[in-house]
Amino acid sequence: MTDNRNPEAAWTYHDATKHSYASIRTNTHFMDWSIQPLPFKIYPTLEPMRLPSEVHQTGVAALSAIAESVPALTSAAPDLEAVAQLLYLSAGITRKRSYPGREFYFRAAACTGALYEVELYLVCGDLAKLQAGVYHFAPAEFGLRRLRAGDFRRVLLEATCGEPSIAHAPLTIVCTCTYWRNAWEYQARTYRHFGWDNGTLLANLLAVATALGLPARVVCGFGDADVNRLLEVDPQREVAFSLVALGYTAALAPQVPAEISPLHLETVPLSQREVDYPLMREMHAASSLDSAVEVETWRGRTPTKNISPSAGPIVSLEPFTDAEMPRDPVEQVIQRRGSTRKFARSLITLRQLSTLLDRATRGVPADFLDPPGAQLNDLYLIVHAVEGLAPGAYAFHRSRGVLECLKQGNFRADAGYLGLGQELPADAAVDVFFLADLRPILQCFGNRGYRAVQLEAGILGGKLYLAAYAQRLGATGLTFFDDDVTKFFSPHAEGKSAIFLVALGHSAKHKPG
Ligand SMILES: Cc1cc2nc3c(=O)[nH]c(=O)nc-3n(C[C@H](O)[C@H](O)[C@H](O)COP(=O)(O)O)c2cc1C
Repeated sequence: MTDNRNPEAAWTYHDATKHSYASIRTNTHFMDWSIQPLPFKIYPTLEPMRLPSEVHQTGVAALSAIAESVPALTSAAPDLEAVAQLLYLSAGITRKRSYPGREFYFRAAACTGALYEVELYLVCGDLAKLQAGVYHFAPAEFGLRRLRAGDFRRVLLEATCGEPSIAHAPLTIVCTCTYWRNAWEYQARTYRHFGWDNGTLLANLLAVATALGLPARVVCGFGDADVNRLLEVDPQREVAFSLVALGYTAALAPQVPAEISPLHLETVPLSQREVDYPLMREMHAASSLDSAVEVETWRGRTPTKNISPSAGPIVSLEPFTDAEMPRDPVEQVIQRRGSTRKFARSLITLRQLSTLLDRATRGVPADFLDPPGAQLNDLYLIVHAVEGLAPGAYAFHRSRGVLECLKQGNFRADAGYLGLGQELPADAAVDVFFLADLRPILQCFGNRGYRAVQLEAGILGGKLYLAAYAQRLGATGLTFFDDDVTKFFSPHAEGKSAIFLVALGHSAKHKPG
């Protein structure tokens, strides 16, 4: 078993899965439609229990919901309606599109290739109108399948070595990721996508939790085998990636009622055959925590330092105040979200950009972000069309609320190239790149820090999506040429790794006005 504390595995995986102009040109991979994986996990022997389908309107503005969280010790427990709301607005089917011969289902959160490799499971005590149990969320039926009856929250408490939010949460949602569902298209790079796609989903989930008045906390430190065993997933195929503790009650999770017996539940194979990409499973094994001691010592202060002090010209951000900001409710914003497929080359305002950056980066409640408000990723921008801001490359100094100009110029062609030669980043008003210095992160958290940094980027990227749609702008996640991104932002970004990219602007479909 590879030790989490030896970060060589993360470096090996990261370097081996970089995109470059040459790697894309020489990759002969194609999507074999004869083995296209099923988009849903199906338990053929379990009947789903339907969830209430009415979307309750909290009326909470999306720009508030993404920026705030409910204090950790606020007494609150979700009822069945709230559970349905959380699931629908994070992983539910929000749009259907028909193509000759088949229907295609799009979900609440953006996901690479629309492959939806993230599954959600509930581990809860007795909630109003929902009995204690372990449940699998079935988006196709919008229902829950009960895998275990009884209160198994103590298993998560032990797996997280006493994490307080888990100890007091009436409900924890466990997010798993299924390798083949995404690797069919993206091969070994899929392990990065786990973090991104789990992250965009969590951005929605956290925002909805806030709107419902529920404290929420993302937990990445847990004994992998214990959680996988509780869900009875086959860890060669599907693995627990993150937990989210939801709500707070003073009472601690009770003792486990019985031993965790094997379930032997049948599931439908995703396709006739699967192709193995061992690198991603090696990365997972090397970032797994195997003992209580390992989990306990994993949590620590986040190694953050402020982005290098600014030497270039500074522009202060001018975000909308609470009174000025658009107040579109979070439910409506999530339901109308969809990745922009073509950007209009039109201006957004500095206030809109400021609001995007300000609201999306006010902190994520997570066990790897301590003190609250810490952040692993640094944001760098290529600005093409922002009123009052010269086109160019910028570094975002979050703590000071300013952008530092690294170089001025029209970089539309560069942005198009960096975003894998796609038109979207060239046409957007602004491209936000996430870069992280992996060295201190891996030193502090071991290989598991690699999961955390990808997950955080996905969450922040997901918040940017929501902040854009709340302002009637468009957004899309994008992939990129790793080392060329670092080179573009250097010397400022020297030594950092490219983690994530989001393009923002007006959709060509919806003209501003
Ligand atoms: C991390 C991430 C990377 C993505 N990369 C690309 C990309 O390189 N090119 C692209 O056209 N769309 C990209 N997308 C958009 C997805 O294709 C899109 O989210 C998916 O088809 C689901 O559609 P929806 O977002 O409209 O619901 C990306 C999305 C995410 C979350």
